[in-house]
Amino acid sequence: MPGWGEEAGRLKWSRRWDAELEWDPPAARWFAGGQINASYNALDVQDPSRTAIIWEGEDGSVRRITYGWLLDQASRLAGGLLSMGVGRGDRVAIYLPMIPELPAAMLACARIGAVHTVVFSGLGAASLRSRIADSGARVLVTADAGYRRGARIRLKEAADEAVRGTGVRTIVVRRTGDASLGPGDTWWDDLVSGSAPADPVPLESCHPLFILYTSGTTGMPKGILHGTGGYLVHACSTFRLAFGTRPGDIYWCTADPGWVTGHSYVVYAPLCCGATQVMYEGAPDHPDASRMWQVAERHGVTILYTTPTAIRMQMASGILPGSHDLSALRLLGSVGEPLGAPAWAWYRDEVGGGRCPVIDTWWQTETGGMMVVDPPGGGTPEPGYAGRPVPGIDVRVVDDGGRPAPDGERGRIVVSGTWPGMMIGVWGSEERYASYWSGDPPVYQAGDYAVRDAEGRIRILGRADDVLNVAGHRIGTAEIEACAASHPGVAEAAACGVPDPVRGQSIAVFAVPRGGGFEPGEIRSLVRRDVGPVASPRIVCSVPRLPKTRSGKIMRRILGALAAGSDPGDTSTLEDPGAVEDAARALRGA
Ligand code: PRX
Repeated sequence: MPGWGEEAGRLKWSRRWDAELEWDPPAARWFAGGQINASYNALDVQDPSRTAIIWEGEDGSVRRITYGWLLDQASRLAGGLLSMGVGRGDRVAIYLPMIPELPAAMLACARIGAVHTVVFSGLGAASLRSRIADSGARVLVTADAGYRRGARIRLKEAADEAVRGTGVRTIVVRRTGDASLGPGDTWWDDLVSGSAPADPVPLESCHPLFILYTSGTTGMPKGILHGTGGYLVHACSTFRLAFGTRPGDIYWCTADPGWVTGHSYVVYAPLCCGATQVMYEGAPDHPDASRMWQVAERHGVTILYTTPTAIRMQMASGILPGSHDLSALRLLGSVGEPLGAPAWAWYRDEVGGGRCPVIDTWWQTETGGMMVVDPPGGGTPEPGYAGRPVPGIDVRVVDDGGRPAPDGERGRIVVSGTWPGMMIGVWGSEERYASYWSGDPPVYQAGDYAVRDAEGRIRILGRADDVLNVAGHRIGTAEIEACAASHPGVAEAAACGVPDPVRGQSIAVFAVPRGGGFEPGEIRSLVRRDVGPVASPRIVCSVPRLPKTRSGKIMRRILGALAAGSDPGDTSTLEDPGAVEDAARALRGA
């Protein structure tokens, strides 16, 4: 990949930057002095007649959304926002389901320099309220309702609860038409049709583009703040590096724009690169697990970018994609969790028919875009490995003293120097931003454990806070999980620590069976053999599903509490709170 300056040159700037980087650790100003607008790059410069989004509703309806439609909606909504008094730097909260109005709303904000904060529509009123309060948003864009697994989710009711007594004004997309509007509310259609389109305004490269809340170590999620120029350069150049979309490609990233993958690789990068993509409204397993393959077949998807959880869910369903014509697929991507060898092989063979490269991409909300990926043809793929650092980004694996960890030995991921997509701050908290750096000169602490091999490939072991200490030995939950999942009767597994009076912690494994299932003793022997006797789990439970957040992260904290016989605490962020009762029942029987 050429240098960042050359990459930046592929975007349209209103004013060229004076300096590619002003670096005063840990503060970085990328493309300082440059002026740019994200909405202009995503919409105005594209062919208006080209299809931007092939949208499929959960009910099977299909809408072809052109770049021209998105431009019209975004620029008129931007005009409407201006008329409501929203200006540069003002925050706008967006609480929408997976409908084309979601990217349009984000781009409307970007057009006038307002800062969007998208709240995943699966979160409830309390989460929305706290994010609106923390960001100080004065306007909320929502919909009357959305659909998920056949159910109508009344977003407007949650939105009303979230903004009650705050004076926040609400713009409502008419999806089902059955919401009643309050005095400060307006229908999206009315606002858009009654507003003149607003022109994109040139913004300083470091002007904030969005705030996105993500979990930290404290109760209140932190608002990760991203800038404009550097973020766009990073997202677009890694999108091209990893996927290299070409004419005729139909790209499908299954992420919801409510999470960072959706921000970078559904909205900003694909649109700025003029891609045509699929957006599917509902759950990938609704009405059954084959839905994902139906969508891919129907729209001739060529590039699929999804999560290991989605892949393992498909594996566990027992429904093979083979009965669908997926011959258009040419590239498979993964993000968000370690893609263990069994899921990697299943993805490559069952989904990709053995012909499509599988690429794994490691990055974080904070990093803005991919940090580690072996693009197709960029090296021999190794199952379980995310790959090598993106050229120009100095990702290292270090020991506790900050020295490079020997090849094959576990260390922490740090990033030396800076990179264009790096967050520009944590909203409202300089200390939380500063806490990411340590050392002299300071390096970015990613919070993940990893192993690097002699070829420089990086294997992610999981969050440093998910690492257990058993009798003085550090053991990654991901290592145990990968080992348990290598049993042919296991679809996926979660490992967690249980307080142990002698060994500090012991290990509990919760595993979802598939095919012929497994015996607990078989998992113990496997772990003892592959990870080491010290890691042999004390508890092995068979569960029908694992407790996960709506973004697919396994909630090991909850499993650990259950295994320890203590209160699992707040389970409201789970995709399916019933999974907690399943685990409790399984423990009683174990
Ligand atoms: O632990 C790593 C894991 O997800 C964390 C970042 O989560 P989030 O900010 O929600 O962003 C997710 C989407 C980029 C990381 O600290 N993670 C992310 N990608 C991978 C991964 N773990 C293993 N392999 C990956 N490819």
